[in-house]
Amino acid sequence: MNEYKIAVIKGDGIGPEIVDSALRVLDIVQDKFGFRVNYEEFLAGGCAIDKYGRPLPEETIEGCRSSDAVLLGAVGGPKWDSIDPSLRPERALLGLRSGLGLYANLRPAIMFEELKDASPVKNIDKMDIMMVRELTGGIYFGDSDSYSCNDILPDGTPKVRIAYDTESYSEGEIRRITDLAFRIARGRNRHLTLVDKANVLTSSRLWREIAEDVHDDYRDVSLDFLYVDNCSMQLISRPGDFDTIVTSNMFGDILSDEAGQITGSVGMLPSASLGKTGTPGMYEPIHGSAPDIAGTGKANPLATILSVAMMLRWQFGENEAADAVEEAVRRALAGGYRTSDISRGNAGEIPVDTNGMTDAVIAGL
Ligand code: IPM
Ligand code: MG
Repeated sequence: MNEYKIAVIKGDGIGPEIVDSALRVLDIVQDKFGFRVNYEEFLAGGCAIDKYGRPLPEETIEGCRSSDAVLLGAVGGPKWDSIDPSLRPERALLGLRSGLGLYANLRPAIMFEELKDASPVKNIDKMDIMMVRELTGGIYFGDSDSYSCNDILPDGTPKVRIAYDTESYSEGEIRRITDLAFRIARGRNRHLTLVDKANVLTSSRLWREIAEDVHDDYRDVSLDFLYVDNCSMQLISRPGDFDTIVTSNMFGDILSDEAGQITGSVGMLPSASLGKTGTPGMYEPIHGSAPDIAGTGKANPLATILSVAMMLRWQFGENEAADAVEEAVRRALAGGYRTSDISRGNAGEIPVDTNGMTDAVIAGL
């Protein structure tokens, strides 16, 4: 019997609730499909700040490194908003991404037939996009600083202070993420869109050059380019035309929230963050810790449950189990079960809380 060890980081806000839901599903799935998952819990984010004074304790990163995969809820909340920026809960996420070498972030934005009504965009017949976001480079990790300055602007306004962040990419970083994106596109509808800002940014022009070069190895996949501003518009006007998108860290952050909302709710989108083959990936919903609804039972657990499906598929190769989880989610939606974020008050809807939705998924397994 295959055995896997996963590091579980529940985090803050709704994190513990949605991770508990996902683990309930995983418990049933492992019995059903005959493999064993052992969990070990670690702290990261605000709860780690409260306990250890820092968002990412060494013990957590070590625990993740020695696991087969990491399941994460969400981190952050207003309680830690005024903390020194280098100690903010979000630093834990960035530290896990860089510490585990998770350079590729896969964010599938799929419109479930049953949720068409919940989309803010009218008349969509389909949407199935795989967003491949570079995750350990670019402006998130580039040179940054802030300092006082006595200079004045040409119109006489004093500059007072300067703060900067740098978007910088190496050819190697671009090559490995575009190569993965082409491979993913090959397994889908063989179309890859590189999203950039090549009309302005030097780093974007390097992305285009490398993507065209890597394309030589994937002639069966078509490649096109879109500026990020145009892409944000096209995502709304023709979401069904996209297949696989590859983009930089920050553009991917922004566009994946947009794509998520088009599917009906950002509470539906899972993600996988992957590094070198054979190293532990991290699986988490793309939404945040939603502190305003923590403890109210309103959290939609589906993004985290679908993240477990991604773990089963991408990390463990337990494809049947992954299919079963995704199918069970579809059944719960088809059965009318709706958490408040995806409810439209339509006839046939069954309003449920976090646990109720989890029960509905489990019933469909
Ligand atoms: C995400 C989040 C994070 C990011 C934040 C919390 C640092 O928005 O995973 O999309 O910007 O990457
Ligand atoms: Mg984001």
